[in-house]
Amino acid sequence: MEKNITIDTLMNEALSDPIQELALSVLEGLSTKPKGLPSKLFYDDKGSELFKQIMALKEYYPTRCEAEILETHGGTIANYLKSEEFNLIELGCGDGAKTIILLKHLLKTSDNFHFVPLDISKAAVEFLISNLKKEFGHIPFDVKGLVAEYFHGVKWLTQHDSEKNLVLFLGSNIGNFSNPAAKRFLRHLWHSLNDGDFVLVGFDLKKDLDILYNAYNDKKGITKEFNFNVLDRVNALLGGNFKRENFQHQGLYDVKSGAMESYLISRTKHTVTISELGKEFYFKPWEAIHMEYSYKYLESDIQDIASSTGFEILENFKDSKGYFVDSLWRVKK
Ligand code: TRP
Repeated sequence: MEKNITIDTLMNEALSDPIQELALSVLEGLSTKPKGLPSKLFYDDKGSELFKQIMALKEYYPTRCEAEILETHGGTIANYLKSEEFNLIELGCGDGAKTIILLKHLLKTSDNFHFVPLDISKAAVEFLISNLKKEFGHIPFDVKGLVAEYFHGVKWLTQHDSEKNLVLFLGSNIGNFSNPAAKRFLRHLWHSLNDGDFVLVGFDLKKDLDILYNAYNDKKGITKEFNFNVLDRVNALLGGNFKRENFQHQGLYDVKSGAMESYLISRTKHTVTISELGKEFYFKPWEAIHMEYSYKYLESDIQDIASSTGFEILENFKDSKGYFVDSLWRVKK
């Protein structure tokens, strides 16, 4: 039978004017101490392309660890779903390279599923679909690509709530939320799922600090470019005049929060104007803009997060180095 392949773009109806909304979060971020910029600015099409390059770096271990996990344990995951029709929903799918590994395992036991890859970058969803075509020729399952924020993936679920679901939240996407925000997000997800549904969540484990440091300060400077792209976007979308040469990138481990954090640090005293805000922002020499958190976990943290949001951990799948966990959860209602 011919399978259906579609891509829909979902707008956030709550926002009457997305540029105004963005301007407000930039105003809030640059008025906070330390200054910050909204991390949702990372993943436009250019940012998604840069993140693809980060994933290919030898220093950036999470992608390879997770590929190994899915290769080794994909069959076990597929076994949990083998006798039913289900939706496979991926939040923040990116290029789907790792997902293809899981899809191949799933196809050994079933072709009775619908794949719903969601990403904020349209180019990422299109690239994923072209990868699926390259990999499978005729794609043997339905694909419903969604270009949207995570929140809409959750909403899509509530509208299709009669089917069994496996939700993928891979990479260290969850690590970009603070602990309370991660719990809020997962509890929201729990509400839109049915008893017995499955979630597979990636957690980057705490480890030797040099390994972490190198993963977020790569030698080729791609991570730096990835951060500078956020400045370019503020300039383009809000009429800013950030100059790359005024900033230095640094990834640092915060011992108190247990997160790798990305900073852009002002090399000199200067001001930045953002015309959409009609405002100048003053930078002291060596003042930092906080760009992103990437929290690192202990297995006991994973247990705490799962049980406090209504999930039962079925299995923690680890790579052979013990760097990363894909944690398979079942919804308990
Ligand atoms: N989710 C990825 C992570 O936390 C994103 C990421 C990788 C990232 N390197 C970064 C985000 C540098 C900001 C800055 O690992």
